[in-house]
Amino acid sequence: MFKHILVPVDGSDSAQRAVEHAASLARTYGARLVLLQVMVRIGSDQVPASLREVARTEHIEVTEARLLRSVAESIVEKAKDLAKAGGAEDVETAIEHGDPANTIVDYGTAHDIDLIVMGRRGLGQLAGLLMGSVSHKVAHHSTCACLTVP
Ligand SMILES: Nc1ncnc2c1ncn2[C@@H]1O[C@H](COP(=O)(O)OP(=O)(O)O)[C@@H](O)[C@H]1O
Ligand SMILES: [Mg+2]
Repeated sequence: MFKHILVPVDGSDSAQRAVEHAASLARTYGARLVLLQVMVRIGSDQVPASLREVARTEHIEVTEARLLRSVAESIVEKAKDLAKAGGAEDVETAIEHGDPANTIVDYGTAHDIDLIVMGRRGLGQLAGLLMGSVSHKVAHHSTCACLTVP
């Protein structure tokens, strides 16, 4: 039934549980899983003043853009390990940038996604909210099935 499952991941516990559920569905349906991280900030190519001296003595290029990119890469790679451990065989990762909800919805349309599995909450600190703004907006705007995981 479901062939292309999209899991937007932000590194939160809730998104991690979404990956576990999605992996189990992918195994059941023989579906492909795409793990998508949306970078909200691309970051500057300037080396931050606080790191400039370390960067100079270590001869490494520590730009803000590189740091943010490696955080995004580590989020999708950890999610991929989890999905594989959960029995998903066909797992892809993707990194995009922009407004998270719009980017997730547009990715779903552009890549023929038939199910989005996401955390109900994410990294946000606002206690008491049942849903975060990203999961709320995606659930409202996506044209495919959408499952939010507590
Ligand atoms: N930048 C992002 N990239 C990919 N997925 C995201 C991103 N932000 C949120 N999500 C997805 O949306 C879910 C809900 O997060 P969100 O709505 O931001 O809640 P909160 O307000 O608690 O941060 C997350 O568990 C994750 O699946
Ligand atoms: Mg959030």
